[in-house]
Amino acid sequence: MVQEKLTLSVIKADVGGFVGHSDVHPELLAKAEEELAKAKSSGLIIDYCRSKVGDDIALIMTHRKGTDSAEIHEFAWDTFEKATEVAKKLSQYGAGQDLLSDGFSGNIKGMGPGVAEMSFLERPSEPVLIFLADKTEPGAWNYPLYKMFCDPFNTIGLVIDPKMSMGFKLRVDDLVENKKVVFSCPEEIYDLLVFIGAPSRFVVNEVYTKETGEIAAASSTQKLNLIAGRYVGKDDPVLIVRCQSGLPAVGEVLEPFSMPHIVAGWMRGSSHGPLMPVSTKQDTPARFDGPPRVVSLGFQIADGHLIGPRDMFDDPSFDNSRQQALDMADYLRRHGPFEPARLPLEEMEYTTMPQVMARLKDRFEPAT
Ligand code: F6R
Ligand code: MG
Ligand code: MG
Repeated sequence: MVQEKLTLSVIKADVGGFVGHSDVHPELLAKAEEELAKAKSSGLIIDYCRSKVGDDIALIMTHRKGTDSAEIHEFAWDTFEKATEVAKKLSQYGAGQDLLSDGFSGNIKGMGPGVAEMSFLERPSEPVLIFLADKTEPGAWNYPLYKMFCDPFNTIGLVIDPKMSMGFKLRVDDLVENKKVVFSCPEEIYDLLVFIGAPSRFVVNEVYTKETGEIAAASSTQKLNLIAGRYVGKDDPVLIVRCQSGLPAVGEVLEPFSMPHIVAGWMRGSSHGPLMPVSTKQDTPARFDGPPRVVSLGFQIADGHLIGPRDMFDDPSFDNSRQQALDMADYLRRHGPFEPARLPLEEMEYTTMPQVMARLKDRFEPAT
């Protein structure tokens, strides 16, 4: 019997915040849950987990319809529209914020919501970690993905597990030119780093095993301001990573988050801040609308069913990272509106520069 591939889709959107951009109201979550339950009983999806981080709702779904399925994407779109209706009724902040199109047209990518999907033949035991981040951008996954799949100081399996020592392939997307390139690692890590060290433009989208081209990780790379051509909120990315048996172990996948690396986002999508790993009980940004945060949900997949989630950062082994993130937040905040706490001019999502420049233009004189 030929085993059929399973598809894991994680689709997230901010369709209204409670209060401001900090959380999602329980009634919106209940609406999403209701729609997911219907989709499961109708057979559209095999299983689901309704999740969230900050002001974003995440639909985690398993099905056999492949990636980029119009049916699955339309279901997600409709669900977000229904949650938007609830958000409007409750006057939630920015109701429908991430739904950038008037109606669904075939593929939800490019229409606002963030999408990470992968199809694979389920292994006898299939441990998967899903990461959801709020108040940051898709390039936030570059650093942790590099550490997981390319850095032996993070992933000792690259050195001592014969199933991993050949390394991995990483697909990188250029969000500005809309192009992709695949790097074979470790041979090409220096070339890779030239690009992914600039996460506002170059984003790791997928990771594959070298021998069989099996998918190991997939991220959302949608950048809302590039889609809409104007600031419409932060992209708040999602990431799926398969673990164990020739792939990084669960602990190797979590390890990069012990370093709260600095990401773009935070206040007004125009700030730099540490990405703080938190439990799902602490996923609601507060101070200065942040700091940016990430939750990790662990599942064992069993015949398409999502057994879980386990709240992976709900553990004292990440307490130091959280403390470090808070110390870094203190330090960065003391810079106020100065770079590098504030993003460079060209990356800011809010700016008064054009207006101020226009108002003052006659006062500028040659400096010689
Ligand atoms: C950042 C974010 C918030 C808002 C800020 C201003 O991603 O969502 O920091 O940018 O609260 O929001 P508005 O302009 O909606 O008042
Ligand atoms: Mg919001
Ligand atoms: Mg958000």
